[in-house]
Parts: sequence; structure tokens; C-alpha cells
Amino acid sequence: MTTTAIINLDLPGPVISRHVYGHFAEHLGRCIYGGFWVGENADVPHVRGIRLDVVEALRALRIPNLRWPGGCFGDTYHWRDGVGPRDQRPRIVNSHWGDVVEDNAFGTHEFLDLCELLGADPYVSGNVGSGSVQEMSEWVEYLTRGDDSPMAALRRAHGRDEPWRVPFWGIGNETWGCGGNMRAEQYASLARHYSTFVRDQGDNRVYRIAVGPSDEQYDWTETMMRSFDDLAADPAAPADPFQALSLHYYTMTGSWSDKGEATRFTEDEWYVALSRASRMEEFLTRHSTVMDRYDPHRKVGLVVDEWGTWWNVEPGTNPGFLYQQNTLRDALVASTHLDAFHRHADRVVMANIAQTVNVLQAMLLTDPDSGALVLTPTYHVFEMNAGHHDAASLDVALRDVPTTEADGRTLPLVSVTASTRDDGALVSLSNLDASEPREVVLDLRGRTATPVGARVLTASALQSHNTPDDPSAVAPAPFDGVREHPRGLLVQLPPHSYVTAELRLS
Ligand code: AHR
Repeated sequence: MTTTAIINLDLPGPVISRHVYGHFAEHLGRCIYGGFWVGENADVPHVRGIRLDVVEALRALRIPNLRWPGGCFGDTYHWRDGVGPRDQRPRIVNSHWGDVVEDNAFGTHEFLDLCELLGADPYVSGNVGSGSVQEMSEWVEYLTRGDDSPMAALRRAHGRDEPWRVPFWGIGNETWGCGGNMRAEQYASLARHYSTFVRDQGDNRVYRIAVGPSDEQYDWTETMMRSFDDLAADPAAPADPFQALSLHYYTMTGSWSDKGEATRFTEDEWYVALSRASRMEEFLTRHSTVMDRYDPHRKVGLVVDEWGTWWNVEPGTNPGFLYQQNTLRDALVASTHLDAFHRHADRVVMANIAQTVNVLQAMLLTDPDSGALVLTPTYHVFEMNAGHHDAASLDVALRDVPTTEADGRTLPLVSVTASTRDDGALVSLSNLDASEPREVVLDLRGRTATPVGARVLTASALQSHNTPDDPSAVAPAPFDGVREHPRGLLVQLPPHSYVTAELRLS
């Protein structure tokens, strides 16, 4: 069966925000400590304690934003513990992740330094679960105020004169779970309360992201949107209580107690993982439908600020550190999500894969012994897709898509999304079929398209992954499977592969 993808190149749709290619770094396992932060006395090359090769690899992705300090850790984090002279910072226990002692060496200044090195916008997740309104309000002041207010003066005393620009702020994290086990009504009130005190200081404009649902929590979305609507309808209310709701969803093949293995999986588990990943499309559609009832003009964004695979940890590693390998299957889970974000560009304004280095579906893995850095297959999908950042989405109408049954759902085996900017277009194609090649005719309408380059990401085995000894087992390669076709182009996708094709338009 040949699939047809009809793309009207002259009908640009909503812009795919570069922020859907965002990242997440929590104080968890070896993400911050050993991943980003090695300290100023480390042998590995660093800038002010921040690992240089990690920064360079992420800069190559044009990483648009970074969420920090949690996750669950965020609702136990008191920011004043992480400012001032490092040798005087208090030690705390990271009760969520491994019950290890945290010395607060990496705090506010180090995080903002990291963002500046990366060229990424900071996204700070504030503490609602165990913090206070005053604490959150003062953190905003500390970060973003320019005059001689008490918090601005404290920041200066700690060595930073200019305020930072902090465009994104989370009003807690998973308050339905680790962030306080709250009821939706309870949190809806708290979100209005806290966000009132997350003020714009000077010319810093804060985009406030309230805790939204996890996967199927449609009731939570309904309650939050009703609360938004109540306040928005009140002429005496000063401003919208929040600008976006978050959504969290993790892909696994098993259950929370036995999530499945990262590298030792069967062909059936390949399909189960991709079928579960494809549920992101369903969640975005259904949560958007609820939001549309209250917000038909789509003022409130959806921020998928935690997504990705969650497997059992690698044997021999700390179960609380969530260190997992990353295979070709993870790469196609990523492309499946990114395609869903592209298709919902009118509502999904931002997304953050969990988590950047050494934790869950990471971009980068660092070897604790040799210090070697490995780029994961997921990293390569992000890099191959960088051309979609801030480009206008193009609607893709698919016909004759092969399917399979997996995990009680019908899984389309071919996915295609596209975007355009100026006189160019980028088309991304996934072949989720574990064993068969698939053909796609790109029926290109409205403008003349000339292929100017294509790349493929695939490997000999579904389980292929990169290690310090074999860092390029899964790496992009030039692709010669794009041919002229009377209706546009014919793309011959190898089994289990990801392809990007660049077009010049005239
Ligand atoms: O990303 C790991 C954890 O998953 C986060 O801390 C939490 O928000 C989610 O449950």
C-alpha cells in the first residue's frame, strides 16, 4: 500500500512555536549534578562549573527553553537555600529522588548562568506544595526586578547586578500528586491566589503556567478552565489568572510498578510503546475540546511540560535516579509526540521532554566513570527537526495509511508533518513499521517544490542505542530515497526509520 500525503504548500497554518522543542532539568539523579553541573574544580572542561560539552551539544539543538528545578523536587525547593556563597548554603534531603543529600551547589544564579550559556529562556517551576505566596513572590522579585528593592539588593549582594529575563513561570507542579495531593477546586483557588503575586516587574512579562491535567484527567481541565472563565468574566479582576495549563504524559509499555525495559524489548513491545505514545494526539484533542468551551479564541495555551518514555532503570543504577538507555524506539516515540505538537500548533505553545541529561528520555548521557558524552537517538530527532522551530505548520492530509493493532488501539504506521518558512519547507516522516519499508507519495500542491536534501535515522535493530564504545550506532545519515513523482515526490521509507526532507519552494 502506498500512502499519499496531500500538502498545500501555499496554505501556511499556525506557527509551530520553537518552545515545543523545550527541555526539563530537575534535581534528580545525575541530571543536574554530573550532567550539567560538575563544579568549578572538575577535570572535565567546564565554564564556571557547568559542563562545556553538554552546553555545546544543546546549543546545536537551539534549545529554546529549560524548565527547572522540578518536577516533584520543585515543590520541596526553597530558593533561598540555593543563593549566596556556595560554601554557606544549607544541605537538604532530596526526598523524592533517592533520598540523597543535596548541597544546593546549583541554585538560582547557576541556573540562570546555564540558560545564558545555552541561549535558552528560563522556565522556573515555583513551589506551591510546601512554599508560600511570599516566598514565590520574592523569588520573582529577586530574579527580575531592576531597582533597589529588597530582593533586587539581595541579588546584587550575591554578585548579579542586572535582573534576568524570566518569561515562563510554573505555579506549582503536579499538585494533583506529588505537589500536594490537592483536589482540583482546591488548586484552582490556589493558582489564582499565587499567580496574583507572580508579578511582572519592570519590562519582564511573565507567562504563568498553572498545573493542568495528567493524560486523561479531563475533569481537572474542566475545573481549571471554569475557574479561569469565572475570573476572566469579572470586570473587577485585574488580569487573567494564568496564561496556560500544563499537561503531563509518560510512555511506558508496562505499569507504574514495572514500566518495561529500555533496551530489552520485543517487537510487540515496540508497537505497544508507539501505540501509547500516539495517545498524545487523543489527549491534545480532548483537552483542547474542553478548553474550547471556555476559551474559543485559544488564549490559554497548553504546555506539555513533561513527556517522554519512562522505563525501568538500567540494572545496577539507583532506582531513585531514573537513569535509562535510549534506543531507536525512543526516537520514534519522540517523533510521534512532535508530530502531535505540530498538528496542534494552535493550542500547544510549549513542551518539555523529560529530562535533558541522564534522566528518563534524555538528549544526552554522560558516563560517570570516563566522563564520555553520548548523544541519544532522541537527540538526533530534535536536531533533524530544528527547521520546524517557529515555522508555519502545513496541514497534511493522509490517505491509505497502513495500520496495526497494538495495546487495544489502531496504530497508524506512517506519520507525516510539515512546515514552511520563506521559500523553504521541511517534511518529517516516520515509519513505525518494525519490519516493512513503506512508500509515501508527497502530493505537493500550490507551489513548485524541489528537494534539496534529506536525512534518515534508522539502525539495524529496533533496540539499537548509542554508548561511549559505539556512539554512532543510531545517527542521522544522508538519505537517497526521495524521487521525483508525477504528483510531487515519492519517499521510500526504510523499516523503523525517521526521515526529514528539505524542499526549496518557488
Ligand atoms: O520527571 C520525573 C517526575 O515525573 C517529575 O518530577 C514529576 O513531575 C513527574 O511525576
